Amino acid sequence: MVKKTIVLLPGDGIGPEVTRAAAQVLTDCAREFGHRFELVEHAIGGDAIDRTGSPLPEKTLSACLAADAVFLGAVGGPKWDKLPVGRRPESGLLAMRQRLGVFVNLRPVRVHTALLDISPLRPDRVRDVDFEIVRELAGGIYFGKRGHEGAGDDETSFDTESYSVKEIERVARVGFERAMARRRRLVSIDKANVLESSQLWRRTVDRIAGEYPLVELRHMYVDNAAMQIVLDPAQFDVLLTSNMFGDILSDEGAALAGSIGLIPSASLGAGPGLYEPIHGSAPQLAGKDCACPIGAILSAAMMLRESFGLAREADGVERAVDRALSAGYRTPDIARLGAEISGLKSMTEAIRHEMAHALQPAEGYGWGV
Ligand code: IPM
Ligand code: MG
Repeated sequence: MVKKTIVLLPGDGIGPEVTRAAAQVLTDCAREFGHRFELVEHAIGGDAIDRTGSPLPEKTLSACLAADAVFLGAVGGPKWDKLPVGRRPESGLLAMRQRLGVFVNLRPVRVHTALLDISPLRPDRVRDVDFEIVRELAGGIYFGKRGHEGAGDDETSFDTESYSVKEIERVARVGFERAMARRRRLVSIDKANVLESSQLWRRTVDRIAGEYPLVELRHMYVDNAAMQIVLDPAQFDVLLTSNMFGDILSDEGAALAGSIGLIPSASLGAGPGLYEPIHGSAPQLAGKDCACPIGAILSAAMMLRESFGLAREADGVERAVDRALSAGYRTPDIARLGAEISGLKSMTEAIRHEMAHALQPAEGYGWGV
């Protein structure tokens, strides 16, 4: 039995709907296994701006810092698009990542066999795709020196990409560790033919490689990596990269799986982990019961495994998602023309139904006992 406090940050657009789906799965899981998960909701993003004037209210932040893990739905929307960088919903999320000290973001991309026909790539190209993007999350151009000078036609704005040895070392070690637990192949992605920060990245990753002689390391320029993800995605096991490149490549990777709605993520550091589907707030889909809850539900599974060490429970949730997809449940983003469509709620119910079987510990069936 474990006892955990989980802060839920539903946020904007479809955020609240997908968060509810993930919360139901966590609650089922706790009931089935006798754990105690206390789920507490707080405001973030545009929702928090509307309520308090700030995209990351103090109350939300202190609850998150005191929690065992944090789940975030999505932030942003047209209503807040005119706000300057720094006061937008997205800055609530960026500040949260920073304050929680999460410096690495794991984004697994797997192409489900039942969805081979949904991928924009031919089935033979995506059949064996199963890779994980290890994205640096606390540095780089997202948090570098920025500003603007001059005005009108003479205005210049800048954002700076910079990385320290320590920042690269800590994320590189996570990349190597993830590779050790998988197929032991790591591709480090940079732009070392142009950028100083990438040259330091490459040198540092090479040095850390000495600690992991069993991992096969390759370096790849980001432009080539973007092409390779489309040409031959099955070649990848773990991809290690900077904040910005990871943001871009993970959307590309997600497209291979059939929909960005399917991909979960875990952001980790010394404190509580932050779990979020990688999709955005999709304002056009909000409130229509048509968003895909799978990215959110799989993020909850990552929380169970990475933050709570509950591997069996996480496997159960992932198996339930597989079974619901194999059984033919399809939200509109992953449905073929003419296929029967499930809403977010019926997809979630299908997964919860499958979980009742998938989570059942073998001894629970009582065979021969
Ligand atoms: C993501 C998102 C965020 C990012 C935005 C919303 C700040 O695109 O999690 O990939 O750029 O990190
Ligand atoms: Mg992104």
